[in-house]
Order: sequence, then C-alpha cells, then structure tokens
Amino acid sequence: MKDKICLITGANSGIGFETAKSLCAKGAHVLLWCRSEEKAKQALAKIKAEYPDAKADIIISDLSSQKEIRKTCSEILEKYTHLDVLINNAGSWFSDFKLTPEGIEGQWAINHLAPFLLTHLLLPALKKSSDPRVITVSSDSHYHGNIHFNDVNLAHNYHGIRAYAQSKLANVLFTQEFERRKGKLPVTICAVQPGLVKTDIGLKNTISFHGLMWKIRRLGGVSPKKGAETSIYLASEAGVKGISGKYWDRCKPKQASKKTENLSDAIKLWELSMDMCGIQNYFGQ
Ligand SMILES: NC(=O)c1ccc[n+]([C@@H]2O[C@H](COP(=O)([O-])OP(=O)(O)OC[C@H]3O[C@@H](n4cnc5c(N)ncnc54)[C@H](OP(=O)(O)O)[C@@H]3O)[C@@H](O)[C@H]2O)c1
Repeated sequence: MKDKICLITGANSGIGFETAKSLCAKGAHVLLWCRSEEKAKQALAKIKAEYPDAKADIIISDLSSQKEIRKTCSEILEKYTHLDVLINNAGSWFSDFKLTPEGIEGQWAINHLAPFLLTHLLLPALKKSSDPRVITVSSDSHYHGNIHFNDVNLAHNYHGIRAYAQSKLANVLFTQEFERRKGKLPVTICAVQPGLVKTDIGLKNTISFHGLMWKIRRLGGVSPKKGAETSIYLASEAGVKGISGKYWDRCKPKQASKKTENLSDAIKLWELSMDMCGIQNYFGQ
C-alpha cells in the first residue's frame, strides 16, 4: 500500500477511523473525508500519535449535500494526481424523517446517493490508478430492505429501519450494476458487511428509545477494529484485484439478498439515482 492514495468517507469514527488508521500503518496516503473539522483533526491527531510518519490529509465536506460533494470532488481532482482506493464508508441513521436541504431523505442521500455520486465524480482519478478499487460499506440489513420506487424518500411511510435497510440494499444493487455497466474499466468494486459493530451510529440523530435499543444491541457486536477488517482487506490485498461486483463478509464473498438478482430493479435504481444526482453519463468525462 506504500504511497497508494486511499480516500475514506466517515473516517473520524468507528469503522472508518480504524480503516484509515490501518491503511496509514500500511504506508498508504490516506484522505480522511469528514464533515466536522474538529472531529477530523482529533482523528488525525490520534493516528499521528500512533504512527508519527503517517501520510494523511483531512477533507471537510458534508455528504448530505450534492452541491458540496461536487465542489469537494473537483478540489480533489485538482489536488491529487490519481486515486487508488475509494471507501464509501460514511453512513447515518435517522429515527425521524428528515430531508436534506436538497429535499432528499437523509439516509437515502448519505448512505446511497453520496456513494453513487462520489464514485462517478472520482472516476477520472480512479482511472489513473493501476489497480483502482471502490468499496462501499453496506450491511446485512439489506436482506430486509426493499427499494420503494414510488416513494424513495418514504415521505408517506417513514421508519428509520425501513429507510436504513433500503439504503443498504441500494449499496449492493449499485455495486452489482456498476460491475455490469463498467465495460473495460479496470475498477474492482465491492460491497461490504462489517458485522454488528460497537459504534455510536445508532446514538446519533436518534430518539431515546432507539438509542437505548442500539446500546443493548451493540453489546453483542465486535470492536470497530474487527469491523474494519474486510474493508482493509479489500483495499489492500493484492489477490482481490479483479474480483469485482461482489458482496463481502469476513474477507470472503457471500450471497447477497435474492432481491439483488432482480435486474429490472437494478436498472430502475441506476436510472433513478442518475436522475436524483443529475448525472447524464456515469462513465463518461
Ligand atoms: N456499526 C454497525 O454495526 C454497522 C453494521 C453494518 C453496517 N455499518 C455501516 O458502517 C459504516 C460506518 O458506520 P459506523 O458503525 O462506523 O458508525 P459511525 O462511527 O457513526 O461512523 C459513521 C461515519 O459517517 C460519518 N457521516 C455521517 N453522516 C455524514 C455526512 N452527512 N457527511 C459526512 N460524513 C458523515 C460520521 O461522521 P460524524 O462522526 O460527524 O457523525 C462518521 O464518521 C456505515 O455505512 C454503517 O451504515 C455499521
């Protein structure tokens, strides 16, 4: 991984922080994409305290805003010669229905549309790598998900768990459809199940009952370090090159939900995502 440029979203805490730290330890040049400058600086200081020679930069940008994602990506394309690994790790949970300033339900915007848009915008940099990889952190929650095509915002039928599962199913459908559409593009794309991990994800943007449920549920979880293992493996293991379009768990491919075999849903989701992100040509310049 020496000097490979790896961008990790949501790198200030939980699974993303452990992924960033480990890739720094392996000698990669790590870009920590975070929405809070204060949290980003704290995360960077923790990494530097353990690995004083770590090569890492922080990028401050809120993934709930497509306008901000576009601006940040054009700055990245100007600043860095190429990108070897993009890890779409950031994710959020909202107990209550919440729209972004652009009128999109929060979990759909951050968990699905942001990875979809980010991957598109950073393709010019990924294309310059000899072994480009895109890793999106999904979840086994996707087995319980459905894409509510008539109302992806769930404006008429919102429940946090329904929105979360929908967004995580979209992560897997995106990964597989990208693989079908990529043509000769040598990008290895993967979706990941990190396991049940003891992080604070279920304590942010939550009502007290859901917060309590998460505190109990995560007792049975693994540490963030353990939860980061598959992301780190997919980013760094030479043998992963070319094993593309799969869903991974514990560093092995695993059967995704049967719902991901519905190709017309995959196409419909791709077109909907293109529309919601205002993209004309996903693989073009
Ligand atoms: N924990 C689990 O059991 C579990 C299981 C399956 C899948 N996952 C997935 O694993 C990924 C990492 O989650 P985690 O468990 O490690 O939780 P976490 O510690 O809360 O990490 C989530 C990260 O995403 C960032 N983020 C959220 N909204 C953002 C936004 N609008 N813009 C930029 N960054 C944003 C958070 O920043 P802030 O710190 O500023 O909020 C944080 O750095 C998520 O995709 C999650 O869905 C987790």
